[in-house]
Amino acid sequence: MTSPAHNVAAEHLLAVEQVSCVYGGFKAVDSVSFSLQPSELLGIAGTNGAGKSTLFAAIAGQQRASTGTIVFNGTDLTRLEPYQRARLGLVRTFQIPREFKSLTVHENLLAGAPNKEGEQLFAALVNTRARQQRERELSEKADEVLEFLNLSKVRNVPALNLSGGQKKLVELGRVLMLEPRCILLDEPFAGVNPVLIDQLSEHIVTLNQRGIAFVLIEHHLQALKKLAKRLIVMDRGSILAQGDPQSVLDDPQVQLAYMGGVA
Ligand SMILES: Nc1ncnc2c1ncn2[C@@H]1O[C@H](COP(=O)(O)OP(=O)(O)OP(=O)(O)O)[C@@H](O)[C@H]1O
Ligand SMILES: [Mg+2]
Repeated sequence: MTSPAHNVAAEHLLAVEQVSCVYGGFKAVDSVSFSLQPSELLGIAGTNGAGKSTLFAAIAGQQRASTGTIVFNGTDLTRLEPYQRARLGLVRTFQIPREFKSLTVHENLLAGAPNKEGEQLFAALVNTRARQQRERELSEKADEVLEFLNLSKVRNVPALNLSGGQKKLVELGRVLMLEPRCILLDEPFAGVNPVLIDQLSEHIVTLNQRGIAFVLIEHHLQALKKLAKRLIVMDRGSILAQGDPQSVLDDPQVQLAYMGGVA
């Protein structure tokens, strides 16, 4: 199955059009186009080095796209910084969790929270009642997120003492503090035990049912197939196939790219 030409219309939550990313002279992402509907759960699979994480970096703003446009909820993001994209509701997690190791789980979530007043020096210096109230609200919100993710029992544990799977949950918690409309998850199941994979999958489904759209990069194809209604497979910087997950995985080109068959 080859990808049909994409009509990137304004009603899409996310529209990625002809995006390329270059490292030195090497094109890691080569003219990729796809779109995401509000509340959709889209999977991205592909060989190692296919450009999946680089594509996320281009969408979330850590990497400048060398060509192409990225439109989120009607706003052209192409020149915006990551924090500006996050404010618009577009957030990502990283393949290797980026927790603050010496901070507790609860503090890690607070560190991810938007800090509206913090940008103004004056406001940062005066500890007003409004500010204290906001800090209390954020702390309560972090506790709600921890409860939702079944992390309350490790609330006060330094992040460095968590298991790989718990760190992935904290990553998810950190982005949930930003009340996103769309979460890009980079290999959430890598290094996570099967019980936690099921738990994490349930959280993703619940959040998706509440209206949060997801794009999920994952090598764990069985877990991905259970979640994603639509799948994109990338190979060497390009989209090789997209559509319903099983037919994409059965595609001879995809099978060939993975050399030896998948799923
Ligand atoms: N910062 C960088 N500088 C130079 N090359 C890079 C950089 N980051 C990634 N690359 C290269 O770009 C290509 C795409 O990498 P990327 O990490 O996006 O792939 P991926 O599909 O996420 O792979 P994986 O499944 O292994 O995580 C690879 O060839 C990689 O070596
Ligand atoms: Mg990657």
